[in-house]
Amino acid sequence: MESLRLIAPSILSANFAKLGDEVAEVAAYGADWIHVDVMDGQFVPNITMGPIVVEWLKSVTSSPLDVHLMIVSPEAYIPAFAKAGAGSISFHAEATSHIHRTLQIIREANVRAGVALNPSTPLDVLEYVVDDLDFILVMTVNPGFGGQKFIPATVAKVQRLREWLDATGHADVLIEVDGGINVTTAGVMSEAGANVFVAGSAIFGASDRQITIKQMREAIENAAQRP
Ligand code: DX5
Ligand code: ZN
Repeated sequence: MESLRLIAPSILSANFAKLGDEVAEVAAYGADWIHVDVMDGQFVPNITMGPIVVEWLKSVTSSPLDVHLMIVSPEAYIPAFAKAGAGSISFHAEATSHIHRTLQIIREANVRAGVALNPSTPLDVLEYVVDDLDFILVMTVNPGFGGQKFIPATVAKVQRLREWLDATGHADVLIEVDGGINVTTAGVMSEAGANVFVAGSAIFGASDRQITIKQMREAIENAAQRP
């Protein structure tokens, strides 16, 4: 089956002193979504940015802004990120006791809704909320920092998730992979059934960003066509 494959550069590895230009550059090279990593220093040991950055980015780009909340009590901040112009919002299953309620808050804001899972979190938490999901973000490193090494055990996790989604009538739910994604691991994860490929250091740290995005696109498309 023909399915969607999207590349989402993560601005965590961009030069924040010229963020608008960085986003415009990768968008011109064919980036599909712009991934925005929000960290609070509690859920993860790092602090990044809030809704105001999304609002400013929204004013300079037409690329959908994909907001990944790595924060405790995500439900409290979702309305602000939606108002700022997020195209999609994911929050961590580990960061709230109220996954269902939090998904409703995102949906009510007319934003694509996703649940993010740490590498060690089982897929079971998705079972009773899958009807309310547009996408699932599978962390392929532990959240908190860019430039970490891809965790190989997550390949089987994505395969199982894709099989389960297809078998239960949820083939249209996208799987997003995030962490340690480069040309090689993007190909591997595309073959496993992933749809959205977040890449920070592999794209913004590349000596030639345009060629890297092109190579990543080719690796993803070639792998997706493998039976
Ligand atoms: C990690 C973030 C990622 C990060 C990925 O906590 O969620 O989006 O930017 O960075 P790379 O692609 O360098 O692993
Ligand atoms: Zn992320």
